[in-house]
Amino acid sequence: MSEQYKAPFEEKLLACQQHTNDKLMAIFASLPFLNSPLGTAMQYGAVLGGKRLRPFLVYSVGEMFGLPKKSLDAAAIAIECIHAYSLIHDDLPAMDNDDLRRGQPTCHIKFGESQAILAGDALQSLAFEILAKQDMPNVALSDRLAMIAELASASGFAGMCGGQSLDLEAEGKQIDLASLEQIHRHKTGALIRSSVRLAAYSAGQRGREVLPLLERYAQAIGLAFQVHDDILDIIGNTEVIGKRQGNDQQLGKNTYPALLGLEQAQQKARDLYEEALIALTELEKRSYDTATLKKLAGFIIERNS
Ligand code: IPE
Ligand code: IPE
Ligand code: MG
Ligand code: MG
Ligand code: MG
Repeated sequence: MSEQYKAPFEEKLLACQQHTNDKLMAIFASLPFLNSPLGTAMQYGAVLGGKRLRPFLVYSVGEMFGLPKKSLDAAAIAIECIHAYSLIHDDLPAMDNDDLRRGQPTCHIKFGESQAILAGDALQSLAFEILAKQDMPNVALSDRLAMIAELASASGFAGMCGGQSLDLEAEGKQIDLASLEQIHRHKTGALIRSSVRLAAYSAGQRGREVLPLLERYAQAIGLAFQVHDDILDIIGNTEVIGKRQGNDQQLGKNTYPALLGLEQAQQKARDLYEEALIALTELEKRSYDTATLKKLAGFIIERNS
């Protein structure tokens, strides 16, 4: 599998990273007070590094429906702003207390806690401003409205924030596998699923027709993503992952390797990959080209950062 996806997939991912960075920079360049402490902290948290996998999902699902990048840019950038905010807050002393992110000091280490908190808050608001205001050629207003509601629920109580709360509550406690799955599906799965849903909504009726299949794919890769993130915290190298290896154990986090052992956690990631492929096979039967989504699923469980 590795060799199969490597060259073309990595080029595509790299191009997406570049494109996402350009779009993010353009948004920041249009903000007043860009050089203020808050503006600088926001850019630091959003622009420096990052695999841009959520934008990549938006563009890849959109491409499946034949949508041009410019119809997808707002959704891709909005979800990345939410993701960046979630990381800034996740690293705070009151949460995971991390000092390294993407190979750099975390936002609060660099700018202080108060500016980091506000940078997260402002990135969150910016995401919704982008989704409400940016050009979205050929996307109906009703679909745009559905996208705003979608991003709100995926980010909030019923999604990422809810999962983060459960994750923190479970620190140092013994929980069962079903509870862990619940945490992971919310804290990480929700934004990954939302990336897919946002792209499907951009495609209007055609997107909605195959939403259950896309959801099945998204649920599988969303959980696989966090299972592999947990695995990287054990087998990864701080230099390569760009965050402190071993932090989960230090915090007494509930993770897949902690509950199942490393080998079974790796098997779980592979099972989820297979589950994702089943959904894609169904999409192929409906004549959709799912090659990129398939490679992305492989990348999610094999990446080293
Ligand atoms: C890290 O996400 C946080 C999790 C949800 C596990 P990513 O691994 O996508 O982080 P970046 O954006 O590439 O740094
Ligand atoms: C965080 O999960 C998920 C988010 C919502 C940011 P982790 O706490 O495992 O993410 P990392 O390992 O710090 O990137
Ligand atoms: Mg965390
Ligand atoms: Mg963390
Ligand atoms: Mg982690």
